[in-house]
Amino acid sequence: MKTSSTSILALAAIIGLLSSCGGKSETGSAGGISPQQMADALHAVMESDRTVYTKAVVNRLQNEEKVIKASEHWQDDKALPLPAQMFRMGAEMVAGKKKGFTYALLSEWPINKQNSPKTDAEKTGLAHIVKNVGQNYYTEETLGGKKYFTAVYPDIAIAAACVKCHNGHDDSPRTDFKEGDVMGGVVIRIPLTASN
Ligand code: HEC
Repeated sequence: MKTSSTSILALAAIIGLLSSCGGKSETGSAGGISPQQMADALHAVMESDRTVYTKAVVNRLQNEEKVIKASEHWQDDKALPLPAQMFRMGAEMVAGKKKGFTYALLSEWPINKQNSPKTDAEKTGLAHIVKNVGQNYYTEETLGGKKYFTAVYPDIAIAAACVKCHNGHDDSPRTDFKEGDVMGGVVIRIPLTASN
């Protein structure tokens, strides 16, 4: 509990800083925070939250204590949401705040079609992180007349459970994931021009 409220506060503080990097400078001014540093910081918070939820909540309560399961149909099953679902619900809530800043966990092989890449930057970025393992992808894009800094971070199959669930899922378009594969990527989009 303590961990999640602390990281929510950290995320809120970072989002509050977005206005300072979206204003005058497109690349970040001297002494300021560049869009890339901002995206990297946001990604660090997201990745840490996801790992904490996976280990301290899902893995502990489902696999170690055997108290409650995690399920894709968590409402019907009265279970814990999957880490990817937690991530998407948070992202949807942030998008609802209409600050111009958005993020998502996407894949070229999504179980949930909502998580497929749509913009050119998303498609190029996902292809890049799959081909160049270990690299992030950074670019700028203009959407709806507004300029964004867009970063794509690899999401890797760090455990057998990732591979097993995705390969065996009825809605998965890919069934040959192996441990260590890049399964998708976190896309973070930061506005470079003042939003609304
Ligand atoms: C018990 C099954 C299960 C496990 C374990 C699991 N996932 Fe998923 N994953 C899903 C489901 C279901 C979704 C779709 C969630 C949604 O509705 O957005 C998903 C979504 C994703 C996505 C977004 C693209 C997509 O497929 O919709 C990525 C990337 C991803 N998972 C990677 C991982 C990684 C990496 C791990 C291990 C750390 C992992 N998953 C573990 C079931 C699972």
